[in-house]
Amino acid sequence: MTYVSESFWHDAVNKATTDLFTFGYKHIVKPHFVFNHTPDVAHDQMIEFCRVTRNIPPLMWLLREMLDYTDPVLETTVMGVDFANPFGLSAGLDKNCDMPVLLDHAGFGFETIGSVTSRPCAGNPRPWFHRLPEYDSMMVHVGLANDGSERVIPRAEKAWTQAGSMQVSISIARTNDELAGDIDEGIEDYRISLERAAGRSAMVEVNVSCPNTRAGEPFTESPENLDRLFAALDTVERPQPTLVKMPLNKSWEEFRDLLAVLAEHNVQGVSIANLQKDRTGLEIPRDWEGGLSGGPTYRASNAMIRRAYREFGDRLAIAGIGGVFTPEQAYAKIRSGSSLVMFVSALMYRGPQQITVFKRGLAELLRRDGFEHVADAVGVDA
Ligand SMILES: Cc1cc2nc3c(=O)[nH]c(=O)nc-3n(C[C@H](O)[C@H](O)[C@H](O)COP(=O)(O)O)c2cc1C
Repeated sequence: MTYVSESFWHDAVNKATTDLFTFGYKHIVKPHFVFNHTPDVAHDQMIEFCRVTRNIPPLMWLLREMLDYTDPVLETTVMGVDFANPFGLSAGLDKNCDMPVLLDHAGFGFETIGSVTSRPCAGNPRPWFHRLPEYDSMMVHVGLANDGSERVIPRAEKAWTQAGSMQVSISIARTNDELAGDIDEGIEDYRISLERAAGRSAMVEVNVSCPNTRAGEPFTESPENLDRLFAALDTVERPQPTLVKMPLNKSWEEFRDLLAVLAEHNVQGVSIANLQKDRTGLEIPRDWEGGLSGGPTYRASNAMIRRAYREFGDRLAIAGIGGVFTPEQAYAKIRSGSSLVMFVSALMYRGPQQITVFKRGLAELLRRDGFEHVADAVGVDA
């Protein structure tokens, strides 16, 4: 009896503090500290904020007290890795490993660090971002700026071993600089970073679908190139499972052929998918370069997830990504076949408490539909 009433009060307080956070982010932080700067400046300030606050333990404690929400229905094991919940930060926001302390205290199930490349990389000329709030989207043209896998991976390992319950994934990509050469050079670039990542994170993600680089996307242009890449990566011994970050703008036939190649290699899962290149029906200035995050990715990624689950669900785990802003949208990704759900845009547009909104909402939806564990709902609509 006492236990029930204690958990009732804890739950009520957690809900109230999450609502307070939502209100504060929408009416104070977003208009006065984020949207009053260009998105490039706001992004840099957000990273700086994480760097400073991670060294203030009382603040991190308060964050956990206010936001943390755990529920056994959300616990899951995917590719042999245990997660407190299926929600993770997708690659790209925490390129250099500045955010794990904050995300761990906010209650993320996992985060993806990177994408990192074998050489440090300055990325594309600024601006890297344009906001498209009317589409809940960000135009992204970063071009894989990062400090390099040699420096970032040890930071990721430290973050992983020090995290309370959060798992850490490392995304590796090919260096986007003037030294980028032929296919073999690209393969060697990935191999170096994978070797550095071996055994130093819960998962590793191979990003073969960055739309904003001078070398393009040769490894998803043909199944043969992808096969060559993964034949080389198979030689790198690693204990952790490997995900592959897939492109969004492929026909199903092309996508299926790529998945068929991956199924032949040391790959345990696929992240579906990267940024949207198709601007059809969207009013976007022509001179804005890059790929679209958020809203414009939602339907296309769900469709790919469903088909991928139907044909490869017994071989490859799926991490669903793209346009998740509500618990219902996360649930749809899971019912379409995703064992894990990642997001970036919701964090930028809605704030850090969104993780609690997702967890609480998903737990309610699962219980409403009679599921005891999130894993039971994976693929039921596929
Ligand atoms: C600011 C930003 C940077 C990104 N950089 C990367 C990256 O380095 N590597 C990668 O695999 N995906 C990157 N992405 C793509 C995201 O991981 C994700 O696939 C995409 O944004 C769709 O998710 P969302 O709708 O929740 O934003 C980036 C996205 C954003 C918004």
